[in-house]
Amino acid sequence: MARITAALLAGLLLSPLIHASPTSGKPLLASRQDENSEGLHSLMVAAGKLFFGTATDVRYLLDKAHQAIVNNPSEFGMIVPENSQKWGELEKEKGRVDFTNADAIAAAAAKNGQKFRCHVLTWAAQLPSFVTSSTWTKEALTAQLKAHITTVVTHYRSQCYSWDVVSEALSSSPDSNTLSNSSIFQKVIGPSYIPLSFYWASLADPDAKLYYNDFNLEISPLKAQGVVDIVHLVRNFISPTGEKGKARIDGTGLQSHLFVGQVPSLTSLISSLETFTNLTSLEVSFSELDISHDSVPANDTQMEQQAQDYMTVVSACLAVEKCVGITVWGFSDKYSWIQDAFPGKGEGCLYDEKMKKKAAWYGVREVLKRAGVVMAERNSTGSPEERIRNAARNGRLMEEVNGTALMLAAEKENETKNGGSNSFRGGLGWRAWPVVTGWGIWVVLSL
Ligand code: G3I
Repeated sequence: MARITAALLAGLLLSPLIHASPTSGKPLLASRQDENSEGLHSLMVAAGKLFFGTATDVRYLLDKAHQAIVNNPSEFGMIVPENSQKWGELEKEKGRVDFTNADAIAAAAAKNGQKFRCHVLTWAAQLPSFVTSSTWTKEALTAQLKAHITTVVTHYRSQCYSWDVVSEALSSSPDSNTLSNSSIFQKVIGPSYIPLSFYWASLADPDAKLYYNDFNLEISPLKAQGVVDIVHLVRNFISPTGEKGKARIDGTGLQSHLFVGQVPSLTSLISSLETFTNLTSLEVSFSELDISHDSVPANDTQMEQQAQDYMTVVSACLAVEKCVGITVWGFSDKYSWIQDAFPGKGEGCLYDEKMKKKAAWYGVREVLKRAGVVMAERNSTGSPEERIRNAARNGRLMEEVNGTALMLAAEKENETKNGGSNSFRGGLGWRAWPVVTGWGIWVVLSL
C-alpha cells in the first residue's frame, strides 16, 4: 500500500516538470492534436524556411511505424531517395534503366504533398559495374555520362525541387580544396565533367535547382573554398555552342555528417553557410544531417549534448536568409547508414530505433517554436524574418534550454507510447519513480 501511495505521489509531483517547457514554462509536450501542426516541417515553414526533410527509401516501405512518420507532411516536407536514384541502382545493366523504386518514392512524396529532392547524378560511388569495370576513352565516358544525366533528369522533369548534380568531387581530406583523383570521371574526363554535368542537367530541366553537395564543408574552410572554385568553374563554363552561362548552379548542400560534441560553434556554422550565400544567388541547405555518438549506446548526458548540437545547426540555418532548409539523412537510428559505415558509433538521428522522439527532436522543436514566437513579436523592429535571423544569430533561440527537460520530454514520449507507466527506463523489473522535493529529485523504487 505504502509503495503505491509513494508511486502515485511521484506521478503527481512529476507531471508539471515534464509538461514544463525547457525555459518558457509553456507546455513542452503538445497535446496530441497539436502534434500535427507542430511537425518539424510545419514549424520550419512558420519560421520562414522552405522545408525540413528526410532521406528515405523503398527498403523501409514495409515498416508501418517508420512510414507513418515519413508520410506525415507536417513532420517532413521534403523527401529525398537515400539510394534508389543513384546510377548503380537505376542502371544495373547498360542501357536498361529501371525507375521503379525511385518512382515509388517520388509518387509517395507527391501524394503527401511533400517536396521531392533528387539525389544524385554524378557521384564517384555506387556506380554500375559497366561503368567502373570498363576501360573508357574521354569521349566515350563523356557521352555515357551525358546520356545518363539527360535520361534521368528528363524522366523526373518538374518533379524535383532540386537535383544533387555533382556530389563529393573534392578530395575527402578536410585540409584540401583539390578535386579528388579517386573519381573515374576526374581520371578519364578531367575537371570539365563537373560543369558539363550542370550544363546537361540545366538543358534537361530548366526549373529544378541544381546543387553541388559535399561533406566536411562545415568544418573545413579550405574545402569550402574548393566548392567556391567549383561554383566559378561552372559559371565560367563555355558551352559546346560557345556560350557562357549555360551551365547553371543554384545551391550548395552541406551534408553535415557530424559527431556529438564536435559540432562547430553557431558563429562558425553561420560563416560556413555565408561562404556560399555571399556568392550571387546561391542558396544553401544542410543536406544530409545526422549527429552521431562516438560510442553507443549513448547515455543521458551524451543525448543532451546531441540535442544542443542539433539546436546549434538549426539555429545556424535560421540565422542565414538563403539557408532554405534542412534534410536529415534518415530520421530513425533503426535505419541509419552510420552504424554500417562506422561500427560502434551512431544513434545520430532524431528518433530512436523504436521510432520514439529523442531529446534532439524536442531541442529542434524548441528552437523552431521560439522562432515562431519571435516571428509573432509585435513590439520589436524589423521584419519578422529579420527578427528571427537576429535572434538565431545571437543564440537567443536556444538560450538556457535545459537538456534534462528535453530528456524528460523524450522519456514522456516513451511512456505515453508505452501506455502511461510513469517511470524511467528500469531494468531487472524494478521501476524507478522520481519524486521532486524541496531537497531535489528523490527516486522511489517499486516492483
Ligand atoms: O542495393 C544493394 C542490394 O542489391 C544488395 O543486396 C545489398 C547487400 O549488400 O546492398 C545494396 O546496396 C547497398 C545500398 O546502400 C542500398 O541499400 C550498399 O551495399 C550500401 O553500401 C549502400 O549504402 C549507402 C551509401 O550511401 C553508399 O555509399 C547508404 O545507404 C547511404 O545512406 C549513403 O548515403 C551517402 C549519400 O548518398 C552521399 N553522401 C554520403 C552518404 C553516406 O555515405
